[in-house]
Amino acid sequence: MYDVVIIGGGPGGYASALYAHNFGLKTAMVEMAGIGGTCLLRGCIPAKAWLHTAQVFSTVRRSEEFGVLSAEPKVDWAAALSRKNDVVTRIVRGLGGLLGGRGVEVIDGFGRLRDGGVEVVASDGSSRQLDAAAVILAMGSVPRTIPGYDIDGERIVTSDEALDWSSQPSRVAVIGAGAIGCEFASLLGDMGSEVHLFEVADQILPGMEPEAAKVLDRELRHKGVTVRAAAAVDPARIGHDSVVVPFGGDSVEVDVVLVAVGRGPLTDGVGLEHTNVELDRGFVVVDAATQQTAEPGIYAVGDIVAGTPALAHAGFAEGISAVTHLATGESAAVDYRGIPLVVYTHPEVASVGVTEAAARSAGYDVDVATHGMRGLGRAVILGEEAGIVKVVFERGGPILGATVVGGAAGEMIHELMYAVAWEALPAEAAALIHAHPTVSEAIGETLLSASGRSLH
Ligand code: NAI
Repeated sequence: MYDVVIIGGGPGGYASALYAHNFGLKTAMVEMAGIGGTCLLRGCIPAKAWLHTAQVFSTVRRSEEFGVLSAEPKVDWAAALSRKNDVVTRIVRGLGGLLGGRGVEVIDGFGRLRDGGVEVVASDGSSRQLDAAAVILAMGSVPRTIPGYDIDGERIVTSDEALDWSSQPSRVAVIGAGAIGCEFASLLGDMGSEVHLFEVADQILPGMEPEAAKVLDRELRHKGVTVRAAAAVDPARIGHDSVVVPFGGDSVEVDVVLVAVGRGPLTDGVGLEHTNVELDRGFVVVDAATQQTAEPGIYAVGDIVAGTPALAHAGFAEGISAVTHLATGESAAVDYRGIPLVVYTHPEVASVGVTEAAARSAGYDVDVATHGMRGLGRAVILGEEAGIVKVVFERGGPILGATVVGGAAGEMIHELMYAVAWEALPAEAAALIHAHPTVSEAIGETLLSASGRSLH
């Protein structure tokens, strides 16, 4: 009898499994496709490895600007793919070691709820029953597509296939300018592919601050990406060697279409229909304080959870919450306000807390302060002046949200994470002194303006 059996070995599942050792729980984790899940195998890690190759390439390409002469660089796609695979292998191996060290039993196969536990069906069709006091559902998500864009893995692909392209595509249409679409547009643009980015909403990165989207939009155009917002595409026409993407009476011809229009939950065949687990458009509904579903003893974490961000680190936090509750009975609600979102484009876009629009619609008396990176000492030195900081705060009250665009925005956002989560007043945060010269000084300047003063 296990204290907990986890179905799914992605960030939500493996964080739950790792955390369970704190309470001495006998833990098994069932995984059908190798540990790591979307993040390690088909998402965050491989995508960021590709983005880093693109960044190295574009840095070398402009090295003369910094007084370093080098030969005209070329992308060795096969070598970059192989490095990406090495990065993934190393991190997956490390995870395997961690799980083994914590005494987690990793079981290969497809898990489904049965008789108060989990039945595991192996690839040879054999099955075994695991009795469990509690089960954590962590099956994750899969890419979605739109009508007229059936995924064939060749001409119409998702990020799953794009991360393993064996050669660089010359002409690509990217449908959807959320995190995935923008990251691919950025890396392919940097590496010299012809990229057409289509977004149905009226700005790229819908849901993020418009000022931030504007900076990224401009930088993508500088890379040669054709950005079309408020553009609905009609069904693709697939030819022998190319695909035609029609839109608004016009069309573009490309070699491949990358569909990045969001992800859907992976809950099929898990036996939820025999339980009281509630679904909302396929996503699992949980009690926010405990991650428990409507079926006592069954928890859910990660991308399959309804209404919470599909981010690896949100999955970690949900795993901690679920395990804390099942082991101790204590509630440990995840505070989503303080969870940053980072889009690893070049420049990066990162946010935490609410946007100005979201704060206004929540009824706050809102004020904002913004500061650009242009002219900032360190940004000039780095040649990374495209960027802004925007801080959203309640008039006379605390900081509610913040967005940073810039080369290191994904790292910088964490100081604003503390400000938002600890409900700092702009004047309190502004009293702290940033090192000079740093890009983070832009945050200090923004906080100073938010408290009604300014320096530079
Ligand atoms: P998303 O939901 O973030 O973005 C999908 C985009 O496609 C939206 O902007 C939407 O308006 C657009 N769209 C939908 N239908 C369209 C159509 N017919 N034509 C044109 N545009 C259309 O989903 P995405 O980028 O696929 O990412 C999936 C999940 O993975 C998200 O929850 C995301 O937050 C997460 N993720 C996070 C990353 C990060 O934190 N760096 C990186 C990659 C993914």
